[in-house]
This record gives sequence, C-alpha cells and structure tokens, in this order.
Amino acid sequence: MKIIIAENYKELSRRAANMISAQIILKSDSVLGLATGSTPVGIYDQLAERYQTGDLDFSQIFTVNLDEYYGLSAEDRQSYHYYMTKYLFSRVNLSKAHCFLPDGTNLDSRTECKRYQNLIEDLGGIDLQLLGLGHNGHIGFNEPADFFEKEVHLVNLTEQTIQANQRFFESAKEVPRQAYTMGIGTIFQARKILLAVSGKEKAEALYQVAKGRICPQVPGSILQIHPDVTVIADKGAAELF
Ligand code: F6R
Repeated sequence: MKIIIAENYKELSRRAANMISAQIILKSDSVLGLATGSTPVGIYDQLAERYQTGDLDFSQIFTVNLDEYYGLSAEDRQSYHYYMTKYLFSRVNLSKAHCFLPDGTNLDSRTECKRYQNLIEDLGGIDLQLLGLGHNGHIGFNEPADFFEKEVHLVNLTEQTIQANQRFFESAKEVPRQAYTMGIGTIFQARKILLAVSGKEKAEALYQVAKGRICPQVPGSILQIHPDVTVIADKGAAELF
C-alpha cells in the first residue's frame, strides 16, 4: 500500500486526478470503477477541466460505479446515478452506453446483484477503482460485518452511515436504508485501487485501514493485501501516521 500525503483537499484532488488521467491516457478503453460522496467531487472537477482543455478523451472509456441506493431511480436527485451525471458524465465525452451503476429501481435483489456482477466481469474487470472511505472503515457500502461479502449484494446501511449521508437529504428519515454495492471481492479484483481520504474525522478509520488488523469489522483493511493500492490522503486524514 503506497501512501501519499497531500497538503490539502485541492492537492489531494489534483494528485488523484493525475493517477486517473494517466490510466485514461495509457489505456484509452479502460474500465474505471467510480465512487460518489463528498471526496471525489474535486477529482471529478479536475477531470472535467482536463477534458475541457483537450488533455483527456473519455470516448472509449467504460465506468462502473460502486453502489446505488435501493429503490432510487437515475432521475431521483438523491441517487448516485444523478450525482454521477451531475459531477462527471454530463461534463466529459463519456458515452452513455458505457456508464454503469446498479439499477436501484430493480427491487429483485437476486437478479440485480447477479446482473451487475456479471456486467463487471463481462467488461473484463476493473482497471482502476476509485474509493472513498467511510467513518467506520467501509468501502463501497461494505459495512463492518463478521465476514467479507464477495460479490455485488444488497446491504442494510448502518446507523452511522445513515447519519453521515443525511447531509445529502432533507433529513435522516429520507436516507434509504438499503443499497446495492460491489462486494469486497468485486473491488479486490480491480487491477489498481486508488483510495482518496480527506479530513481529520477520517483519520482513525484510515489508520485502522492502513495499519490495523485485517478484519471484516474494518472492511477497508483488506486493501493491505491487494498488490496495487495507492492511498492519497490530505494532512487531516493522515494525522495519525
Ligand atoms: C460512495 C461510497 C462510499 C463513500 C464513503 C465516503 O460511492 O461507496 O463508500 O466513498 O462513504 O464518503 P464521503 O466521500 O462522502 O466521505
């Protein structure tokens, strides 16, 4: 696990965008695994800017997102699909037919999980997976548990995650209680992983992920044994190193 400490959030975003840009330039038909939440916003701004200046071409790129809320459609302003359209898809020349997320409106979780898992495998797997980190060490929506879930699955969100995500909703009551997420195995099969972490409130989680015991109670800790992980953390998130 390579750890890069950035001066601040802007620097973190720039460095993470450098890594994603290199991937796009070196392999123009890469499959990028993408994340939502607050952390990637600056990274997507950077990528959009580099597309505007003519330095990046997304026309052959494929994207697969980590997760989507159960029950929410792409048109729902709180859905991850909506977020991705707003922050990235509508700002670069990604083909709509190349951008994939779990379908929150498919309430039959068995078929949806299988469909999304197969889709990722049929694309040939993920070349570079971007991850954020939850306060409880979650990656994607793989919450602390007694075992690592391998494949795409439907998960019950923890109270801590619901509280953390309520900032995107009117109230905690409106945060969906379930989500589809790639499993730890799905994420682990990515050829390269980039974990971006910002803010001192994530410092303890990042420390446990990078230096603690590898256990499903800290889902991100599994990344310690992946062969190609880069962590880009700002000074706040890295304060315990
Ligand atoms: C989002 C996701 C989550 C977030 C994590 C951190 O697609 O899978 O694991 O990356 O909850 O979220 P932020 O960046 O909002 O702190």
